Amino acid sequence: MTRTLRVATIGGDGVGPEVVRAALPAVERAAALDGAAITWNHLPYGADHYLATGETLPQPVFEYLRNDVDAIFLGALGDPRVPGNEHARDILLGLRFRLDLYVNFRPVRLLHPDLTPLRAVGRSGGQADDESRRRLIDFVIFRENTEGSYTGKGTATGVGTPEEEQTAHEVHTAPKVSRIIRAAFAWAAAHGRTLVTMADKSNAVPAHRLWRRLFDQIGSEYPAIEREHRYVDAIAMEFVRNPERFQVVVTNNLYGDILSDLGAALVGGLGLAASANLHPGRAGLFEPVHGSAPTLAGKGVANPMAAVLTGALMLAELGCPRGAVALERAVVRGLEAGVRTPDISGTRSTHDVAEWIASALN
Ligand code: IPM
Ligand code: MN
Repeated sequence: MTRTLRVATIGGDGVGPEVVRAALPAVERAAALDGAAITWNHLPYGADHYLATGETLPQPVFEYLRNDVDAIFLGALGDPRVPGNEHARDILLGLRFRLDLYVNFRPVRLLHPDLTPLRAVGRSGGQADDESRRRLIDFVIFRENTEGSYTGKGTATGVGTPEEEQTAHEVHTAPKVSRIIRAAFAWAAAHGRTLVTMADKSNAVPAHRLWRRLFDQIGSEYPAIEREHRYVDAIAMEFVRNPERFQVVVTNNLYGDILSDLGAALVGGLGLAASANLHPGRAGLFEPVHGSAPTLAGKGVANPMAAVLTGALMLAELGCPRGAVALERAVVRGLEAGVRTPDISGTRSTHDVAEWIASALN
């Protein structure tokens, strides 16, 4: 019997609608490999809709997304005509917060050796493409997704005066810090990983000591998994110097945002970076890490691979493991065959690349 999955899409702004439109046929075909059919519901929310109607995400739509879909697939949000980004705050951050999607799961995986800007391992002699010198970068970032620097809490006094003061409050609560740390260890245990690294800045921000304490407490429940702590500045350097050593990285909302762009840069850039916003047992929100790239919009040059790989994360969550693996394999074959957009030294269009991937599924 065919299972039907209900997926709401929000193309959003800039290149968002193009990459979503391009990726959907591949995702749909992949789901069929697990005997699942997808019914898409394309929602219009984004900057155009906001500018035309004043609406960001209406309450009944929010309730529909909370109660009546299996997943939400989002393109990108951000438009120069909305300099305050209030629609993105309501839609993207609003969904993360109000649906309590506390895990922002961002894999950093090198899918083709030529995608990393890092040189091959080892410095002297040998061929640069020698199998043994290839980089094996494969880790995941667990970014806390519901508090930290993203609550919007703070104060503003003397706005516009020479004494203007803006404060932004970071919020770290034990239940929310615990659950993201636990999610990281549980995922590591379920996926045979043996090391979890936690990044904070507790040497300068005393509030981050809570992360240190809870990381040790929860980590001690997983004796088979090694745990280590890094200051965020140091881990940024180590991402570049030795990314192979990382397996699972857990960190707060802001540091996870920054480290996931750095991670993406290690493995081909934002054109390939996927992410999932999750709360186990609930419908998730799936979005490529890249932004709306307004200057690229409408040119057919945006890389659809991030959206396709995001589709793979979605299928994996929706109980379609064969489709998830098939999507990823098809992307890898596309990379090998040179079916690439200009961001990764190719000449093919958004549509071409996505169509090739859909036809290569098996
Ligand atoms: C991301 C984005 C968002 C974030 C922006 C658009 C608010 O950069 O998903 O990484 O900071 O979370
Ligand atoms: Mn980001």
